[in-house]
Amino acid sequence: MNLSVAIDGPAGAGKSTIAKLLGEKFNLMYINTGSMYRAVTLKALENHIKAENLNELNSLMDDLSMHFENDRLILNGVDVNDELTVPKISNNVSAYASIKEVREKLVKLQQNIAENFNVIMDGRDIGTVVLKNATFKFFLTATPEERADRRYKELISKGINSNYDEILQDIKRRDYIDSHRDIDPLKKADDAIEIDTTGLGISEVVDKMACIIEETLKEIN
Ligand code: CDP
Repeated sequence: MNLSVAIDGPAGAGKSTIAKLLGEKFNLMYINTGSMYRAVTLKALENHIKAENLNELNSLMDDLSMHFENDRLILNGVDVNDELTVPKISNNVSAYASIKEVREKLVKLQQNIAENFNVIMDGRDIGTVVLKNATFKFFLTATPEERADRRYKELISKGINSNYDEILQDIKRRDYIDSHRDIDPLKKADDAIEIDTTGLGISEVVDKMACIIEETLKEIN
């Protein structure tokens, strides 16, 4: 069995930054599953396909190919990562991510990658659905205010004009939709280790998780 690390948690908990660093440290392929849902949203919006329009959404999904190169999602041969984090996509992604057909297709793709590579995967349903037998499962949280503040600073540093209050509202709204949807809602797996990152810096969280991984690997080997 391949080595796999699952990281779940709400928006802005620091999952992607932390997953990238841990991936480098332990030589794991980093799979940002949120970017896959964002890519579907990008294409659906470009083609004016609403989330409830299942037929069109299904045929759109059939035409999408996705893989990762150096942490970056390649969609139909194109690196679209810079287009995925803009507010327009963030505001719409949870609606598309609630659709059963979208989830089935992306979960299958994610499981397929994990069968072929040692991965660190972050998202909402990794420990509960995608990698139920992951070697390690973590659940990262932080207060909505701290998560909004992190996201605000990230967008500003990328030169994207943003408003803290709007980001906070978006985060609270997405938290609600993600944890109340019928299919694969955001929730901590029973066997996941929960880390509240409020007030903690990235390196403190990474060190904590790296310690846990190293200790367990020592016991396994
Ligand atoms: O980076 P951020 O935490 O804002 O979100 P993301 O990881 O890019 O995910 C964007 C959205 O995709 C989430 O709000 C969920 O609605 C959806 N998502 C999901 O449903 N399942 C996943 N495994 C990953 C993301």
